[in-house]
Amino acid sequence: MDDQSALLAALKLQLDWGADEALEVFPRGLQVRPAPAAAALAVVPPGVPARPVPQAQTDAQALAAAAATLEELHGALLGFAGSPLRDTATQLVFADGIPGAPVMLLGEAPGGDEDRQGKPFVGVSGQLLDRMLASIGLSRAENVYISNILPWRPPGNRTPTDAEMQLFLPFVRRHIALARPRLLVLLGGTAAKALIGGRDGITRMRGKWLQVMMEDGQVIPTLATLHPAYLLRTPLAKKDAWHDWLMLHRRMNEG
Ligand code: URA
Repeated sequence: MDDQSALLAALKLQLDWGADEALEVFPRGLQVRPAPAAAALAVVPPGVPARPVPQAQTDAQALAAAAATLEELHGALLGFAGSPLRDTATQLVFADGIPGAPVMLLGEAPGGDEDRQGKPFVGVSGQLLDRMLASIGLSRAENVYISNILPWRPPGNRTPTDAEMQLFLPFVRRHIALARPRLLVLLGGTAAKALIGGRDGITRMRGKWLQVMMEDGQVIPTLATLHPAYLLRTPLAKKDAWHDWLMLHRRMNEG
């Protein structure tokens, strides 16, 4: 292979892996990595923060706390410069549906369709979600409000990192507080991990009522269920998801 073919083959491999954005001006050679410095491996004693809280996290907390309405929260997210995701995404994806609806759904992050249209769950997984909602009498035109943990699409639709989830969590929690849903549904492992925490994966967390405690002490009954994109890849899991949606239906009818 000549140099040019080798470079093209390497580029194609990157595309196959889902890299569709160039984040840095100069390439980094990842084949040869220096051994990690001993200091980076040192155990941090209990009580000592591993790293200083970055400015972006402090900004996120202050901006989210200052938002008194959903419109202000939308504006705060638009003005928040603490995440490089905003540089690679096309537009902010804030929410869809009825603010103040009894049920609020939280997904993971916008994908390509959502990034183009500026609304959550408008691609194929959104269509499945709408069908599942309709089967228990719910719709975003009437009684559901939908958002995501991340408001910007991660490049190549990769899973959000823990740091990204933590960074946007103050905005997500403020979003819930301002939307004031009676019940919360977490779609998939990322949303469940961000709001509930713990080590369990989504298959252990789903199918039971959990609780999210708000800053004012209010507790919101919360159901974690399988992400519609996972259901598209794993049709056999739809019966578990159906069980979860029926639990939500029953709880809504309890009044
Ligand atoms: N997947 C998500 O988690 N959210 C969206 O908005 C779309 C797909």
